[in-house]
Amino acid sequence: IPVDPFDLVIFGGTGDLARRKILPGLFRRYRSGQMPDGSRIIGAARSDLDGAGYRKMIADAIAEFGGDEAGDQDCLSKFLTCLDYVPIDAKGTGGWSELAQLVRKDVVQAFYFSVAPSLFGDLAERLHTNGIASANSRIVVEKPFGRDLESARALNRTLATHFDESQIYRIDHYLGKETVQNLMAVRFGNVLFEPLWNNHYVDHIQITVAETVSVAGRGAYYDRSGAMRDMVQNHLMQLLCLIAMEPPSQFGADAVRDEKLKVIRALQPVDAHHIVRGQYDAGPDGKSYREDAENPRSFTESFIAMKCHIANWRWADVPFYLRTGKRLKARSSEITVVFKDLGHSIFEGDEARHRNILSIRLQPNEGMDLQVTIKEPGPGGMRLIDVPLDMTFADALGDKEVEVADAYERLIMDVIRGNQTLFMRGDEVEAAWRWTDPLIEGWEARNDVPKLYDAGSAGPEDAMMLMHRDNRRWRDIK
Ligand code: BG6
Repeated sequence: IPVDPFDLVIFGGTGDLARRKILPGLFRRYRSGQMPDGSRIIGAARSDLDGAGYRKMIADAIAEFGGDEAGDQDCLSKFLTCLDYVPIDAKGTGGWSELAQLVRKDVVQAFYFSVAPSLFGDLAERLHTNGIASANSRIVVEKPFGRDLESARALNRTLATHFDESQIYRIDHYLGKETVQNLMAVRFGNVLFEPLWNNHYVDHIQITVAETVSVAGRGAYYDRSGAMRDMVQNHLMQLLCLIAMEPPSQFGADAVRDEKLKVIRALQPVDAHHIVRGQYDAGPDGKSYREDAENPRSFTESFIAMKCHIANWRWADVPFYLRTGKRLKARSSEITVVFKDLGHSIFEGDEARHRNILSIRLQPNEGMDLQVTIKEPGPGGMRLIDVPLDMTFADALGDKEVEVADAYERLIMDVIRGNQTLFMRGDEVEAAWRWTDPLIEGWEARNDVPKLYDAGSAGPEDAMMLMHRDNRRWRDIK
C-alpha cells in the first residue's frame, strides 16, 4: 500500500544504523513502489558533506548492506535522486536555516533521531525554534530509551516539551518483525488457542532469544548495558507482552498498548535466585567477553536467564522463563508454550508424560510446531508417542510467500502512515524500567559476579538448574 509523499530527515544520517538499516530499508520500499514520487530523504549529521557526497556514501552502504536488490542499478540511481544532505550542528546554529528551507510543510514530515539520546532535547528544541516542525510532524527515536526509570522519564519529559505523544514513535525493532506480529494473528485470529491460553492449561512459557554474535566492536556501549538493559527491558518484554496480554478490543495503537502496559504492570519482582547472569569465556574461535568489551574487570552480563510471574487472573502461578545471550550455540528466537499434563490417562501401561507443546519460531526458519500425542504406528498395541505438527511458514505459504519486509522498513512506513500500534508508548517504556531497575540494583548491591559460560554453548549451567529445580527443562537452542 503506497504511503503519502513525505520528507524524512535522518539526524545521524551518516551513522551505522542509517547506513546498515534505515537507508537500505528505504531503498527496498522504494523499489517495491511504496515510496511515492516526490518523497525526500534528507541526511543531517556533523560531517561536512554535500548532497553528492552523501549520495555516494549511501550508494556504497546499499551495495554493502542492501542484499540482492542492491544490484538493481537503474532503480538505485533513481532512489538516490530523492536524497539530500545538510551538515548540521545539533547543539549550535549551523545548518538549521538550510534545513528549514529544505523541509516542506505540505507533505508528511518525519524526523528520525538516530543519535545519542543526550541530543534529543537539542534537536527537538531547534526543530521548533527554527520553525521546521509543526503539530503534524512525527519524530522517531531509537532504543536505548534511557538506562533506568529516571533517565527514561527525563527523556519523555524532554520530548513532551516539544511534541505530543501522538507524534512520538519509539522504535523497538522486534515489533517490526513479521513473526512477532504474527504472534498476535495466531493468538487472536484462531479459535483454537485462546481458550487454552491461561493457567488452567498452560504449565509454563519459555522465551529464548539466542544470538551467536559477540559484543566485539560495540563493547563501549554494551558493557554499560548488559543483556538486561540491551535485550530484556525491551525486546524480550515486548515478546512477553504479546504472548501474555489480554485480547485488545481492536488492533489499534492505544488498545494494543493499553493491554501490553497491564502485563508489564502485573509483572512481579523477581527473586535474586531466579536470575542467572552469565558472561562468555574465550573459545577456540573467539575472545572472551572481557576481551571483546575491552574491560578486563567487567561484571556485565552477556547472558541472562530468569523466571518471572505475572500476577493476574489469567497467569497466576504460571512461570515465564526468559533467556537471552550472546555467543550461544545458535541464532534462534523461540517462544514455547508448554501445556499441562493430562489429568488422567486411559491408556494402560503408559507411564510417559505426554505434553502438548506449541513452539513459535521467530527467527530463523519462521514457523510453528505443535507437539501432539499419537499412537505409535504398528502392531505393538496402544503405545503412545509424541510427534510435531510442523508448520514452517515458508513451506506453507509456497509461492504465495510475500516479500518479507525487514523490521526497520516496515516501521518507517508505519511512521509515515501515522500508525503507532507497533511503537512503544512513553508509559510502557517507563513501566518496563520500573520493573527492571530493582533487579539491576539488586545484583549491583550484591556485587554479583556473572557465571562464565563457554562460547558456543547454551549458557551457564546455572541457567539449566533454574529449570531443573522446577522439574522442567529448556528447549534446545538449535
Ligand atoms: C539490538 C541489540 O537491539 O538487537 C543487539 O542492541 C542485538 O545487541 C540485536 O544483537 C538483535 O536483533 P536481531 O534483529 O538481530 O534479533
